[in-house]
Amino acid sequence: MPLIDTQNKILASKPGRIILGILVIAIVALGCVAVFQTSYDVHSKLELIPDTNDRLISYTTKSNEEFEKYTVKMNQFINSYNIHSENRNIYNCDDDHLPPRDNVCDVNIRNLGPCTKENYYSYHKSSPCVFLKIKKTPLWEPKYVNASDPPEKMPEYLKNYIASESIQKKKAVWVSCEGENDADKENIGPMSYFPSFGVPHYYFPYTNQQGYLEPFVAVHFERPTRGVVIFIKCQIWTQDSNDFASFALYLQ
Ligand SMILES: *[C@@H]1O[C@H](CO)[C@@H](O)[C@H](O)[C@H]1NC(C)=O
Repeated sequence: MPLIDTQNKILASKPGRIILGILVIAIVALGCVAVFQTSYDVHSKLELIPDTNDRLISYTTKSNEEFEKYTVKMNQFINSYNIHSENRNIYNCDDDHLPPRDNVCDVNIRNLGPCTKENYYSYHKSSPCVFLKIKKTPLWEPKYVNASDPPEKMPEYLKNYIASESIQKKKAVWVSCEGENDADKENIGPMSYFPSFGVPHYYFPYTNQQGYLEPFVAVHFERPTRGVVIFIKCQIWTQDSNDFASFALYLQ
């Protein structure tokens, strides 16, 4: 078998082994880049907080130190919405009160249910919260989901919710999270969203207003299964973007 002979000769020689080693490393590295790109897209309009390099939230509730690395990041994030009180162009927006020119809509951090700083974002109860921020995207005017013809893959509860809302409230960038695979869908357990399932239209478009506050939704994972890695994908629902952020959750 000349081919195997040749292979054996290559493997037996030192340069051959080095080349093989480099090839293996290159293939593994390419694989890592591919995985990294599917789970972390810096151009995504949706950003996960706490952001972690490995896209993993993993801790045991036995010691506070374990989840502090996440709650510290969430504190930093939340605090950035507190220090804006000197900004005079902050406006309390709602459907009947759109922001005047050069004003920005306030982001209310008081209606976050169990996802507050005072409550450690529920990390100590093995039911952690994450924040999903819609990153400022200059001039993006979302094409809102048509409530009478929602995307097929949109979760049923969200379709029903949108259908029940008033015309003005249907104009929102909706957000949802789900398990990646069947097992994940089961293990993820119930979720709740604060202050609501989406971000209202009056935050858009971002036109470089000074002091613009990036809106976000808090997601509470109420009873995720412990002792298994759960792969989670969160995404936005508009007609022109389904950008997403994915991460893994592992509670011991
Ligand atoms: C929304 O969907 C319905 C049902 O498919 C359709 O009749 C209607 O024209 C759509 N509206 C818009 C604004 O696209």
